[in-house]
Amino acid sequence: MSEFTDLPKVELHLHLEGAAPASFIRGMAAEKREDISGIFAADGGYAWRDFPHFLKVYEAAASVLRSPRDYHRLMLAVAEESAASGVIYSEVFLSPDLCGGGDASAFADYIAAIREAAVVAEATCGITFRAIATSIRHFGPERARRAALAAAESAGDFLTGFGMAGDENVLEPADFAWGFDCAREAGLRLTAHAGEWRGPDAIRDTLRALGPERLGHGVRAIEDLALVDELAESGVVLELCPVSNIALGLYPDMRCHPAGELDRRGVKVTISTDDPPFFRSTMAREYEELHRAFDWDEGQFRKLAVQALDAAFCDADTKKKIAKKLEA
Ligand code: ADE
Ligand code: ZN
Repeated sequence: MSEFTDLPKVELHLHLEGAAPASFIRGMAAEKREDISGIFAADGGYAWRDFPHFLKVYEAAASVLRSPRDYHRLMLAVAEESAASGVIYSEVFLSPDLCGGGDASAFADYIAAIREAAVVAEATCGITFRAIATSIRHFGPERARRAALAAAESAGDFLTGFGMAGDENVLEPADFAWGFDCAREAGLRLTAHAGEWRGPDAIRDTLRALGPERLGHGVRAIEDLALVDELAESGVVLELCPVSNIALGLYPDMRCHPAGELDRRGVKVTISTDDPPFFRSTMAREYEELHRAFDWDEGQFRKLAVQALDAAFCDADTKKKIAKKLEA
């Protein structure tokens, strides 16, 4: 328990499968008599070497989640973990590729089950959830199209956004424009991972080609201060996941992370965990480390939570309800 555990938090960037506790996935594998023991370390956590291997381990862990019921259970487990860190509003990424193999009607069944779990979690854990459907970049543009079509069919007051995760080094943002256009036409709000593995030019290309209002990570904007100014002026929001960036080797430690400078230069930054058990993170740990590195205090964290709520992909009434909880 840290001094920031009880501060109310808003999280905008959480991969649902990536948030699965290792013990939960081990239990699912045992139920299904699947041997995925190679993805676990001796201490029971996930074992991966680098980003490409992380993606493989992630997909192996997700492979034991095979039904809407499995995701219902996952959502409840994730809600408990988030609540223990003081999260009161959370947007979870889930992929039509992993939930129903890209089929729109199967994806709708997964969304229904996850939504049902979210209603239970709201009553028991006090967290409000929304969902963002994500295409997976290294699965290629054709599967991203199918993901967007599935997302468009399930768009509504629970599934409110569309995005793209996966390996940023694969192909170019423009290759995925069709999916983002389709999702936008369906009324979905947009976010895309960019500026994690590639630099400022890739961020510019992503903004131009896909038109997201938020960027997953976006940290490497710091390598071009003109781009940082543009982000600050345009109000594009960065979903920063500092502990993830350090675990994956982008920065050696929190003092070297650009969160402090991006914030000082007026960029709208928010704080999330990405895939917490993979990086041994929690929202409380993110806050604790940011406090130690940048001397961020309760006032700063409250400002960031309000900033995140402003950028949330939910309706105005929900925002009002969460805003009241943040003020309390
Ligand atoms: N999927 C899960 N975590 C991710 C990350 N950090 N970057 C890209 N895709 C991801
Ligand atoms: Zn991510």
